[in-house]
Amino acid sequence: MTTSSPFEVVSPGRVNLIGEHTDYNDGFVLPMAIERGLRVTVHPRRDAAVVLSSDRGGEPVELDLAQPIQPGRTDWARYAAGVLAGYQRLGWHIPGFAAAITADLPAGGGLSSSAALEVAIAIAVEAVCGRPLSPADRALLCQRAEHEFAGVPCGIMDQFAVTFGREGHALLLDCRSRDIRHVPLDDDGVAVLVIDSGVKHALVDGEYAARRRQCESAAALLGRQSLRDVKADEWRAKSDSLPALERRRAGHVLTENDRVLAFVAAAGRRDWAEAGRLMRESHASLRDDYEVSCPELDLICEVAANLPGVFGCRMTGGGFGGAAVALVETSRAAAIMEQLRAAYRPPTGVEAAMFVTRPAAGGRVVA
Ligand code: GLA
Repeated sequence: MTTSSPFEVVSPGRVNLIGEHTDYNDGFVLPMAIERGLRVTVHPRRDAAVVLSSDRGGEPVELDLAQPIQPGRTDWARYAAGVLAGYQRLGWHIPGFAAAITADLPAGGGLSSSAALEVAIAIAVEAVCGRPLSPADRALLCQRAEHEFAGVPCGIMDQFAVTFGREGHALLLDCRSRDIRHVPLDDDGVAVLVIDSGVKHALVDGEYAARRRQCESAAALLGRQSLRDVKADEWRAKSDSLPALERRRAGHVLTENDRVLAFVAAAGRRDWAEAGRLMRESHASLRDDYEVSCPELDLICEVAANLPGVFGCRMTGGGFGGAAVALVETSRAAAIMEQLRAAYRPPTGVEAAMFVTRPAAGGRVVA
């Protein structure tokens, strides 16, 4: 490929199987890239403009590479702007290009559409420049774009999942060392079901930052740099001394880290009943102790808990709306989706979108 020919980038969304709100606490997460995401057709241009267009409509957005790109946008293009600014900061000379984006991922649905866009633009930049960044550095550059251009102090899970996804595998990520282990998820009898609640609660960003601060405060009160450093016996001895709020937040994070590792062990034995039990526990902890669920996600998980063929179900992603993820028997997936839709519709008035997905490959140039 020469940098003057058009090319395509695909960049998946992600769903997190377990390990929620642990990434910014240096903990463990187990996300996977999904078969839905973005496809970006890139046409190099002769000038210094990046022109972004989306099949979701709206006027194309033009970003001028002749100037340092600054934060301040409030539209969807801010994620792309943040990525371009990241490469500018590295001193890269970026030639102009047009990027036409098509998506089969709900935006703001908790499936990391923003990380998918960041990583897609990063891959496009590297392709037009004809030089790669290491995948980890690319993911970190995208995370920083989210911090500085979207104002969300997110952890590294989404950008790493979208970058390092592998077909047939979930990704066990140690968010402290950034070590990655691809965990096979290749039992044809078991399927991953994603259920979009269709709700987006406005408080997400402020509450997300508040949770992060509460965890930092809990770690500091325990005399530790991060909650990852708090050992089980230390927690038993000292947790009663914490204020109730910090105790519940930290309690979630510590137990959730254990659940991630237990889930990986269960998946290795193909013990899906145990993996599902851990997902249910995770949801309860997020609902009661971390307080990031919402009535719609709770409803989905309650209904799912009573359906034959569902091993486990939990909210996934930041919370306050967005999506739930369930582990189900493949042969019963269609019936489960039907029953979930039927139970969700009357109390919410919402037709929940849902789909089965296999773990997919990470973002890349295709063709
Ligand atoms: C959002 C953030 C992630 C992570 C999750 C919660 O998706 O972008 O970094 O913190 O919430 O697990």
